[in-house]
Amino acid sequence: MDSDKRKGLRFGSKVVYYAPDEATKSISAPIITSSSFQYDADIYQEVVEGARKSVNIYGRCGNPTEYQFEEQMAIIEGADDCLATASGMAAISTALFGLLKQGDHIVCDWTTYSSTHEMLDHRLTDYGITTTFVDSANPDSVEAAIQDNTKVIYFETIANPTMKVAAIPPLVDIARAHGLILVCDNTFASPAVIQPLQWGVDIVVESASKFIGGHNDVIGGAICMKSDKLPADFLEQIRWNTMAKWGAPLSPFNAWLLLRGIQTLDVRLERQCQTAAALANHLVNHPKVEGVWYPGLANHPQHEIATAQIPGFGAMLTFAVADGDAALKVADSLELAAFGASLGGVRTTVQIPATMAFLDIPEAERLEMGIHNGMIRISTGLEDSADLISDLDIALACI
Ligand SMILES: Cc1ncc(COP(=O)(O)O)c(C=O)c1O
Repeated sequence: MDSDKRKGLRFGSKVVYYAPDEATKSISAPIITSSSFQYDADIYQEVVEGARKSVNIYGRCGNPTEYQFEEQMAIIEGADDCLATASGMAAISTALFGLLKQGDHIVCDWTTYSSTHEMLDHRLTDYGITTTFVDSANPDSVEAAIQDNTKVIYFETIANPTMKVAAIPPLVDIARAHGLILVCDNTFASPAVIQPLQWGVDIVVESASKFIGGHNDVIGGAICMKSDKLPADFLEQIRWNTMAKWGAPLSPFNAWLLLRGIQTLDVRLERQCQTAAALANHLVNHPKVEGVWYPGLANHPQHEIATAQIPGFGAMLTFAVADGDAALKVADSLELAAFGASLGGVRTTVQIPATMAFLDIPEAERLEMGIHNGMIRISTGLEDSADLISDLDIALACI
């Protein structure tokens, strides 16, 4: 099937179909582990003349299994191009280092993933790149933060752990009016829930370690692009200038695990989103629960925006109990759901944002971001929702 026909498929078919391998006709991607590739005179000439992705040179710069993952990610995000990386953080740092130089400025939402926040607030400042943090759900505050040296606006489709959903169209308009690149982290939603490039975002960065891989067994990342503001070969440029120089390629085996994970992305997310809704509706009426943050609830501050942008509402929710001690007691008492880091897998996982993902953020800053000590974040897996509700009820009875 040619690429245009693939792009025209519905999402559930896009994720399953891979072009058969040309050499073997295998319908499962082969894993090519070779780190080096033999030249012949023609390839040598192509490389000398500047050809890059079309030829295999050295595993740190790209690999056939990784290219197949990039092709598949581009199809499911509706991108013109994709660059794979060793992790989600490698995707974020490669994209930002590729877009920015000393003296540049970013406008970024307050509630991004903690390592992203930390990178912008501390690491990038060491290189002369500064950030103003704003509430991206308030477009006026985004516009007000723009300076002469601003190059990028950065936000997440669903922000951790408050599940904030910023309206994308006003951000697209602001970015276009000021000639800025709009970058969005789509990790918490996944392309099964929203494809931000179709809404006018320029670059999507993604931790493939979460819903894309889907089985809590792989680390990887992707940068997807569809933009008339950047050169068409921008991702190829940063493959060589940034990703390969910082040394953050996706390994062939991880690329293969991610290719396999993508095939069930649609059905996994359908079930995971339904389960998130069931848990949110249960927890919201629980006497020990002091708050529930889930975009599908009518009282969520951005419920209307979420209904338009992420009609499945995603597979993430947060609830709060009285304080940090109670949160620990509940998380530690769960037996079916796993208390631990990460999200997006077939196992339901819970974490305490204040003392896990956001531990490095000073308490006052954390509270300003809306992250309370008693919060417990849930990433719903594929277990039966009735069993998960019973697991939560038993754990909540311990406080
Ligand atoms: C929203 C978000 N973006 C990026 C990352 C980083 O991904 P990785 O762990 O694959 O580097 C994470 C990790 O939890 C995340 O939650």
